[in-house]
Amino acid sequence: MNVLLAGGAGYIGSHTCVELINAGHDVVIADNFSNSCPVAVERVEELTGRKIPLYEADVCDRDAVEKIFSENKIDAVIHFAGLKAVGESCEKPVEYYRNNIDSTLTLLEVMKKHGVNNFIFSSSATVYGTPEETVPLVETMPKGSPTNPYGWTKFMMEQILTDTANANPDMSVVLLRYFNPIGAHESGRIGEDPNGIPNNLMPYITQVAAGRLKCLGVFGNDYPTHDGTGVRDYIHVVDLAKGHVKAIEYSAEHKGTEIFNLGTGVGYSVLDIVKAFEKANSIEIPYVIKPRRAGDIAECFADATKAKKILGWIAEKNLEDMCRDSWNWQSHNVNGYK
Ligand code: NAD
Ligand code: UD1
Repeated sequence: MNVLLAGGAGYIGSHTCVELINAGHDVVIADNFSNSCPVAVERVEELTGRKIPLYEADVCDRDAVEKIFSENKIDAVIHFAGLKAVGESCEKPVEYYRNNIDSTLTLLEVMKKHGVNNFIFSSSATVYGTPEETVPLVETMPKGSPTNPYGWTKFMMEQILTDTANANPDMSVVLLRYFNPIGAHESGRIGEDPNGIPNNLMPYITQVAAGRLKCLGVFGNDYPTHDGTGVRDYIHVVDLAKGHVKAIEYSAEHKGTEIFNLGTGVGYSVLDIVKAFEKANSIEIPYVIKPRRAGDIAECFADATKAKKILGWIAEKNLEDMCRDSWNWQSHNVNGYK
């Protein structure tokens, strides 16, 4: 299939691009580089030996998206092109709603015009809100109330896409609810390159390891978890990328809307991650315990049974792989792509 990757220069998009090409698919990337840079695409070309059609375009810009669909025979779209910083979304809600929802609507409109019916969406475990039922989280659970505008954009976009598929019997929508992607391609050539001080745990740890930051703050050690620190379902980004390949192939054969958790089904605490990183890389990570971060929950991990059963997908890499590959990327690219 020829797949348009909206936001394909970003962290998850660049890894998915590699796996799609490895699986024999063709790709076109559209990205406005608001949170990425063209070097990431050059690195993907280097890893795959393929020239990738790349459009510097805002996917909220209808004319720009129209041009891409006119110049390429697109079979399916994967929509990664979202703003994703939780804290920033509380400060700039309008920008988040505008970018994330407008990009989705624009893609849907242009797809309809060109008769393209396969849409894979980057959703998040954040749509489960603060789960009242116990973990693991299952796709059949009702969505909860996200704690921030970023999460609400995912919640709303899931609804928009479900309604659109309901109205069009030819359409296939796959909503992929990611848990906590970490790690990097094993080559160390592509990886996560956050702007400014990282909000997420693993990039913070790798920047402490690289000497860019002094000390990790652990947000709370009084949660009802095995060591008091927050538990999450960390998934290697290459496994996550392979989940998209399965989703694309599934969407080619099925209509309607389907939701899949992409996680490992195993939860690790913040201190588990620190210890695993130290062991995998023989580097000490200094940390201090800080107060809980607003909006955090104690535990969040997936029931990943549905993806295994229906997509035939399972996360294959373990925590050691995730820690090793995260550091391999960061240590060879101390300042990211810059
Ligand atoms: P990322 O910021 O690295 O990638 C997103 C890409 O989209 C960037 O390259 C950015 O420049 C581009 N982009 C944003 N708005 C755009 C627009 N209007 N037009 C064109 N390009 C645009 O983020 P990521 O970690 O790769 O995440 C990809 C998607 O997955 C996002 O939608 C994110 O919300 C979702 N997601 C990420 C995580 C995570 O932990 N990384 C978890 C759950 C869901
Ligand atoms: C966060 C977002 C979530 C988003 C996901 C991916 C919040 C509340 N949630 O998930 O909506 O989908 O990122 O972008 O922001 N931690 C520390 N110190 C740090 C950083 C994190 O102790 O410096 C802890 C957190 O408290 C948490 C765990 O590490 O227990 C994971 O945090 P993080 O990587 O930010 O992911 P989530 O909070 O799960």
